[in-house]
Amino acid sequence: MFLDRFKTFKAYKTETTPCKIKLSSNESPYEFSEGLKEKIAKEVANIPLNRYPDPTYTQLKEVLANFYNVKPENITVGNGSDELIDILVKAVGDLSHPVMYPVPTFPMYQVSADTIGRPKAEFELDENFQLRKEEIDKALKNEPQLAFFASPNNPTGNTFDKNLIKYTAENNVFTVVDEAYIHFSDEEDFLDEALKPDNNTVVIRTLSKIGLAGIRLGVLIADEETVSLIDRIRPPFNITYPTDVIARVVLTEGLNEIREHINLIKEERKRVMGEVSKIPQIKLFPSQANFFLIKVDDGNWLHRKLIEKGILVRNMSHLPKLENCLRISIGKKEENDALIEALSEIYNG
Ligand SMILES: Cc1ncc(COP(=O)(O)O)c(C=O)c1O
Repeated sequence: MFLDRFKTFKAYKTETTPCKIKLSSNESPYEFSEGLKEKIAKEVANIPLNRYPDPTYTQLKEVLANFYNVKPENITVGNGSDELIDILVKAVGDLSHPVMYPVPTFPMYQVSADTIGRPKAEFELDENFQLRKEEIDKALKNEPQLAFFASPNNPTGNTFDKNLIKYTAENNVFTVVDEAYIHFSDEEDFLDEALKPDNNTVVIRTLSKIGLAGIRLGVLIADEETVSLIDRIRPPFNITYPTDVIARVVLTEGLNEIREHINLIKEERKRVMGEVSKIPQIKLFPSQANFFLIKVDDGNWLHRKLIEKGILVRNMSHLPKLENCLRISIGKKEENDALIEALSEIYNG
């Protein structure tokens, strides 16, 4: 009875069909080197697992601050950026005022709002998945107090017009720029805006897309005052001890590997998208992320065909504005070759 309102909820869906090649979750396809893994194993073995981690995550914040080139006071941490989204949705502003975000986008903004029954002011992207001022203005009429802009956006892959994001913040809306995929983008980030005090703007980042999806670590970057307030409501030990330790090892000793993997992914994105663009039956959308979106005549059919060939991609067909769309993560060279070959066989016989 007490949970009845969730009976109509759909659990967050991921692709689970076992396949040889997994290009469905926007993870990094690369594992770290054996040498780095050994260092991680050694540090993890020394963790006193009977103890709680440092609830202030002082050392972790210092390492993250170095990585993002900000001060530790500008950083707080979440169990994945999913948790940070959840904290923001339940903490920012008057909860009777809506959360605004474009459609289509990353589903967790909606899920977090629905979980606590907070109203939503959804607004549409145009046919190229770009923001439109008129749509933002319509959403602003509902007096939202919190906005989410994923840029690059998931699942569409494009970045948004910076001016329209700033415009939203200027309209007295606490504006979250979700930069989960920024490492793969050539566009400028929002860090400068996030660091300015009284600017209604924060940035969230994640280590999930650059090789550490398994440890679940998200980061919020904002001015000191905002960070200190959010830190007060963050669950005290939300980052596990192993996550704390692994992130510190990788973000000090594994920086070259991370950079190398990002470059490989960007090069491969260019190559794969170049090849896919030669197949006339596929409409390809531009991408600044570690994945790209395609549209075909029958998305469900293509999704099935790829599974038959051992390749799992994300089917977006069931979602509004994404009929017959599939989202494909960039994999390792040989995985991408298999994808290109499979698509050519499927469409050219
Ligand atoms: C735009 C966006 N934000 C946040 C997340 C969640 O990331 P995390 O793994 O840090 O919870 C994702 C994951 O796919 C995403 O696409």
